[in-house]
Amino acid sequence: MATSHLRLILFSISTSMLLFSSHSLSEPETLLKFKASLKNAGGLGWEKNPKPPCDAHRSSWVGVVCMNSSVLGIQLEGLGISGTIDVDTLSGFPNLKSLSFMNNNFQGSMPDFRKLKDLKSLYLSKNQFSGDIPADAFKGLIKMMKLYLSENKFTGEIPSSVLELPKLKELKLDGNRFSGRVPDFKQTNLQVVNLSNNALEGSIPEKLRKMDTTMFSGNKGLCGAPLKKKCDSPPPPSLPSPPSPQPSLSPTAVSSPPFWPPPPRPLTTSMWIIMIIFLAGGLIIFSILTVLLIGRRRTQASSTVEAPPPKTQKAEPVKLCFLMDDREKFDLTELLKSSAEVLGSGSFGASYKAATPTGPPMVVKRFQQMNNVGKEEFHEHLKSLGRLRHKNLLPIIAYFYRKDEKLLVSDFVHNGSLAVHLHGHQSLGQPPLDWATRLSIVKGVAKGLDHLYKELPGLVAPHGHLKSSNVLLNQTLQPLLTDYSLTPVVNQETAQEHMVAYKSPEYIKTGRITKKTDVWSLGVLILEILTGKFPGNLLQKGKGNDDQDLAVWVKSIVGDDAADYESKLVLVLDKDMEEIREGDKKLAVDLLGIGLSCCDLDMEKRLDLKEAVERIEGLKVEDDKE
Ligand SMILES: *[C@@H]1O[C@H](CO)[C@@H](O)[C@H](O)[C@H]1NC(C)=O
Ligand SMILES: *[C@@H]1O[C@H](CO)[C@@H](O)[C@H](O)[C@H]1NC(C)=O
Repeated sequence: MATSHLRLILFSISTSMLLFSSHSLSEPETLLKFKASLKNAGGLGWEKNPKPPCDAHRSSWVGVVCMNSSVLGIQLEGLGISGTIDVDTLSGFPNLKSLSFMNNNFQGSMPDFRKLKDLKSLYLSKNQFSGDIPADAFKGLIKMMKLYLSENKFTGEIPSSVLELPKLKELKLDGNRFSGRVPDFKQTNLQVVNLSNNALEGSIPEKLRKMDTTMFSGNKGLCGAPLKKKCDSPPPPSLPSPPSPQPSLSPTAVSSPPFWPPPPRPLTTSMWIIMIIFLAGGLIIFSILTVLLIGRRRTQASSTVEAPPPKTQKAEPVKLCFLMDDREKFDLTELLKSSAEVLGSGSFGASYKAATPTGPPMVVKRFQQMNNVGKEEFHEHLKSLGRLRHKNLLPIIAYFYRKDEKLLVSDFVHNGSLAVHLHGHQSLGQPPLDWATRLSIVKGVAKGLDHLYKELPGLVAPHGHLKSSNVLLNQTLQPLLTDYSLTPVVNQETAQEHMVAYKSPEYIKTGRITKKTDVWSLGVLILEILTGKFPGNLLQKGKGNDDQDLAVWVKSIVGDDAADYESKLVLVLDKDMEEIREGDKKLAVDLLGIGLSCCDLDMEKRLDLKEAVERIEGLKVEDDKE
């Protein structure tokens, strides 16, 4: 089955790519003209670049985002650039949808972006822009979804035209000197309205009262929910709106989804069998690719309409969208040409290990059920993931988009996943992880998760799929999170069926995930690392299947009283782990307590992410020189 699928992808990908071929000649000139009004942008090297800025979705110019061979966005971040943003020149790009100049030295008043009617996202945070923003500054930008003006020196009232952006999802105004009252937002899609650290006053309007408190903190004059500070006079009368209808997502019973790595119970034999199957699968795929590539050359040579002239006896390149500028660019055909090996079949689709003839190995993951959002929102989401940089997050290097098929490319991480180290080390002939390594893995995971929470505040569960097989270990056994932040783009049905967030007790009970859902996943992971036991509740979405729940099992042994944890610790610890030094026992007890508090069924009592991260970071090994 996998083989016919792969044939289909490669064939349809290559035919669809034949359609993209033209690019406008004036783009390089437009870009250079735009650059002329910037200061300190010489390092971009645009004028020296002999290639066109955009070739299909591939961008050859630093900071230029491409789609369909034209400029989709400009993303110049953290480069110390100043000068003028020449909006008139930018309006020469017919498809411009996204601009980011975050973390530079731009000064002066807010540029007038109203000419760029298609703009969907505008990121100007962390510059030195100042002065009042005219009320109509964003008038007519009806496609705008994300507007980031954080950490500038803007003053005056919040411009009223932001209320007329019907699609607005994220508005960040924090860290400025905005004053006056908070206007009455009506948009239904709003997820983030961060107003913290300004000089706003008055009561917080109805619509925003359910939002996170941190979005309002640091404004001396603001009052009312969600802030603790009461308003002196009663807020102006407003009819209580009926509770917004929440989609009631009734969990459907599913059978055990395909899973990699496999559950450890009948460990050694199953591991071997699966490894052998995958090895054989790899050989099959390899031969199919060879046959396919040869076959395609023949087709192309004999086809008349769209095929390139027969003298190019090469496979048509299948272009990837690159998210990292500092990487060597390659296309999918190059990547799959030399060899491809099936690594596993996860809940979303298979993943392959492949390499370009000269480069290091990469992992290509297929996702078929990833149509939750339209094409542009998909590109937009992937771009925001591409902006994430953290030592505990495995970056997505490039991706391929087609309506029914997405591929995500990332580095191949040699040490494999935490799941394999915890549950399959015997069959791989490796020693079990020691205590110090386990603790440092927990710390790294917490740091990575914390970064996702900070960078993607608009997501309910910023990771959404945290489990030991999505924690990879690098050469020094430091953790790298993967498959993160995909809940917005994965089809809801698939997400509910397979993703870890949707296996949380709150989802099973109420059909909702919350900001604390990732904390539950973190707790389960901590218990898994301590006990070496596989969390059965991730395998099956059984309702009330207590005997599968790792937290329930641990609690049944150590009890509810933290005072007993120390004496009971030994009963739950992974037997494969060498004995913990006396001096580290206290840390292990504390970690056990943190793990259990992260798994608390009572959402009020469960730690929030910030608390969990702080407590984990507080676990200091005696001779920690940090
Ligand atoms: C890109 O091109 C495809 C097909 O040529 C078209 O369907 C799609 O709308 C285009 N996207 C943009 C953003 O122009
Ligand atoms: C709002 O911004 C502040 C300051 O930048 C930040 O600390 C806080 O976490 C943000 N809140 C949300 C929910 O994004």
